[in-house]
Amino acid sequence: MDKQLRNEVFETAKSWVLEAGERIRENIDAPRQIETKSNPNDLVTEMDQQTEQFFAEKIRSKYPEHFLLGEEGFGDDLTELKGTVWIVDPIDGTMNFVHQKRNFAISIGIYVDGIGEIGLIYNVMEDVLYTAKRGEGAYKNDWKLPELNHERPLHQSILALNTTWMIPENPYIEHTGVQELVKKLRSTRSYGSAALEFAFVAEGVMDGYLTMTLMPWDFAAGAILVKEVGGVVTQADKEPLNLLEKSTVLASRSPIHDEIIDQYVSLKKAKSDR
Ligand code: IPD
Ligand code: CA
Ligand code: CA
Repeated sequence: MDKQLRNEVFETAKSWVLEAGERIRENIDAPRQIETKSNPNDLVTEMDQQTEQFFAEKIRSKYPEHFLLGEEGFGDDLTELKGTVWIVDPIDGTMNFVHQKRNFAISIGIYVDGIGEIGLIYNVMEDVLYTAKRGEGAYKNDWKLPELNHERPLHQSILALNTTWMIPENPYIEHTGVQELVKKLRSTRSYGSAALEFAFVAEGVMDGYLTMTLMPWDFAAGAILVKEVGGVVTQADKEPLNLLEKSTVLASRSPIHDEIIDQYVSLKKAKSDR
């Protein structure tokens, strides 16, 4: 994507994200229609669906040649990442949206032939927009985020971590390694929105984010942001991310990235069985 087109798509996407966010804020206290998806704690609301539909209509009318990969089913059925693909999570952190009415984000990653060109993560209730364009750095609103500080050692680091991975029965990761990791770290946090967790890593207020089950719309924008400030984003076995599959993810400053995977992460099963 040439720079001029990228700037145009970026400005358009940004205006749609802000518009969608405003609608969500205006309706934050409206009665919610809450349904469940894969399990009783996997929530979806009419606002998740309406917001994705809003992006689908906008993208299809302005960029009919672009594709949409979205969580709520208004996108295209993609088996490859050819062309320009908008990867959209209309509300990331739906449980927070329902229970807390805050700490959720709109997340959009725009990829061309599989390469991340534009990332936008909008913390809706705080009206904070994180953005990135490939090769041009990342921003929090108008503030250019500095390169990550790679000096801080693991024992002074804070990692975003879902602590359910510390229980022995979890199907993904050897819990003893995670327990050792938690002992080593300065502390952990769990915000309940993958997109915001990536944004906080990019901002340097978190040192990393380790998680076992993300979908492409959870990490598409965040991966672009973190890479733009010099961070590393891979699967939890160091394999590159696959934007068409569910995945484990470690996003962090680079020296601790290797240390975490080499010394603390031991994945339990073959990827196909997880
Ligand atoms: C979820 C959030 C959560 C993460 C889950 C995601 P959703 O996304 O990002 O933090 O732990 O894996 O599914 O369902 O709220 O869009
Ligand atoms: Ca999500
Ligand atoms: Ca979502």
